[in-house]
Amino acid sequence: YSSKSYEFIQISQPKPGVGQVTLNRPKALNALCTPLINELNEALADLNASSDTSVIILTGSQKAFAAGADIKEMAPLTFAEAYTKSFIESWSSLTTQVKKPIIAAVSGHALGGGCELAMMCDLIYCTETANFGQPEIKLGTLPGAGGSQRLTRAIGKAKAMELILTGKSFSGVEAEKWGIAARVFPSYEELMEETLKTAETIAGYSQVAVQACKEVVNKSQDLALRDGVEYERRVFHSVFGSQDQKIGMKAFAEKKKAEWTHS
Ligand code: CAA
Repeated sequence: YSSKSYEFIQISQPKPGVGQVTLNRPKALNALCTPLINELNEALADLNASSDTSVIILTGSQKAFAAGADIKEMAPLTFAEAYTKSFIESWSSLTTQVKKPIIAAVSGHALGGGCELAMMCDLIYCTETANFGQPEIKLGTLPGAGGSQRLTRAIGKAKAMELILTGKSFSGVEAEKWGIAARVFPSYEELMEETLKTAETIAGYSQVAVQACKEVVNKSQDLALRDGVEYERRVFHSVFGSQDQKIGMKAFAEKKKAEWTHS
């Protein structure tokens, strides 16, 4: 997969089992134009299919994770074009097509669609000075890639409503305090180092169990509690059909390290 060359993203493998997608459109602060999203979806599909990758890191530059959808591309769009071509719908492929965990490492601007893209990932790590926000109101529009829904679920209606109506941004420190980001780091270097460590930790487990964990946690965002608990139990039962469950529990009893087969 890494042999493909892209215009707006870079693919790397910083550690065995860890695939990294770096948004790379520096002149526009990684604004998410349609060709960039197409490349991102193609790269994620490849990483999802690759047996060399267990966990995916999605990041930008120190200055910008992504400054939103491409305003210059959107400016002339008509309702009919947006509606009939389902503008922005393809962004959601990330949430439906990728079974491997995606960690967003956010430094700098994560505004509008950039904030939404980060929230589509399974886990967010950020720097203290990361600049999150949904400023669409300032452009005469509204969040269009799930921001009003995911932000509200993540931080509650009161704060989400204020942020979306005012367009005010919030820092990485706040993102962590409010539960959008799992962890926050004082420097860009620490952010990238710790993101990689977490990715390696996850890549070291049975990928059957890892993907099941991702699936059930994400289900909690869509289902009512009783349905979610039942869904989790079904998946839990099904994992007794994996070899790795036998291997993991036997290794525990024998005080040995589990050698996962990912089957
Ligand atoms: N779309 C297109 N181009 C963008 C962009 C965007 N979202 N954000 C930045 N750029 C471009 C700028 O136009 C500029 O290009 P030029 O050099 O050709 O003029 C370049 O990136 C650098 O930007 P600035 O000069 O503005 O950099 P700055 O450091 O002064 O400011 C910023 C940084 C505060 C992030 C500012 O660029 C900004 O406010 N960007 C727009 C943020 C925004 O409104 N995002 C929401 C977009 S709408 C959306 O995302 C809809 C949705 O829900 C899906």
